[in-house]
Amino acid sequence: EVVQARGQVLLPGFVDLHVHLREPGREDTETIATGSAAAALGGYTAVFAMANTDPVADNALIVEHVHAEGKRVGLVDVHPVGAVTVGLAGVKLAELGTMAKSKANVRMFSDDGHCVHDPLIMRRALEYSKALDAVIAQHAEEPRLTVGAQAHEGENAARLGLQGWPAAAEESIVARDCLLAQHAGARLHICHVSTAGTVDVLRWAKDRGTQVSAEVTPHHLLLTDDRLDTFDPVNKVNPPLRAASDAQALRQALAEGVVDCVATDHAPHAVQDKDCEWAAARPGMLGLQTALSVVARTMVETGLLDWRGVARVMSERPAAIAGLPDQGRPLAEGEPANLVLIDPDARWTVRGREFASIADNTPFEGMELPARVVLTMLRGEITAADGKARG
Ligand code: DOR
Ligand code: ZN
Ligand code: ZN
Repeated sequence: EVVQARGQVLLPGFVDLHVHLREPGREDTETIATGSAAAALGGYTAVFAMANTDPVADNALIVEHVHAEGKRVGLVDVHPVGAVTVGLAGVKLAELGTMAKSKANVRMFSDDGHCVHDPLIMRRALEYSKALDAVIAQHAEEPRLTVGAQAHEGENAARLGLQGWPAAAEESIVARDCLLAQHAGARLHICHVSTAGTVDVLRWAKDRGTQVSAEVTPHHLLLTDDRLDTFDPVNKVNPPLRAASDAQALRQALAEGVVDCVATDHAPHAVQDKDCEWAAARPGMLGLQTALSVVARTMVETGLLDWRGVARVMSERPAAIAGLPDQGRPLAEGEPANLVLIDPDARWTVRGREFASIADNTPFEGMELPARVVLTMLRGEITAADGKARG
């Protein structure tokens, strides 16, 4: 098969360190099969499936199931993230070593959706992860500062009468865990950085030699809390959409490398959990099929990154953070590659119902966005082309 690519951009396949595929437990909102199709259509060749499934991915049996199902579907490499604690309860360390040595070869651990609150658990998890050559991914949130919080603490929340979610709830945990990681000599990855203050903390930690990396979501790069005026729960997410000054600081930090990479935090939800009162709605947004276009809008159109830079933040850096052996390595002649082909001049209108995901909770509904994935290739096999996933 010969692919014509004149005028198009060829990049290494994208790597997403942070997706929720909902299997096992919530297959009414996403499965490994539908999430894999969404990933292939978004240009991804590897995704990291978060541990907050039901049951929780806190043992070898579950991570091996997720890994095997990803292989069976065959559209994207699905790497399970192991839970740090048993059942996300935050009190008992899970068997990290067993998961690392299982067939799933787990190299990233997290308690997403219920962050590692207890500093002693965090300290021990970092020590284990160092021994296992793994990384701890932290959803940085001090829960005692976010009780009842509904929106970014600031002018908009005050005007709308929503209880505020202070930036310090994120920044204090990032600072704490950078100190613990440095003490343990371990690698720490900060999920979905959302405030300008967190960027300052990361800069400080990196300057003093902490092995810390960080991701930003497409929605925190593009969207801000002034969208909350309509009380549409599609805009509800954890951490919340922040102020315009935060989004600007995040774009700058991604361009400079203080924030290493883009990760979607792809979070499918059922209609009844989004089509309801703001306060009752679940937090989270779809991301896999819009990530490239939102990065093109916020980073490429603004001149902050060129396409080479997009390869860095969407493929090479995330692959390095997760320790993927093959991604980004120079290939031998004739060796099958992970690639994504992009039409940089395309414009398209987002329609959540047309996505491969079962859920349709995209905050970008109706927006016209630049750049489209034309084709995705996993180890030399086409996994998506012209808007259709294969297999
Ligand atoms: O918005 C979010 N959705 N943030 C999280 O931490 C969890 C995630 C989910 O699982 O829906
Ligand atoms: Zn999270
Ligand atoms: Zn998440």
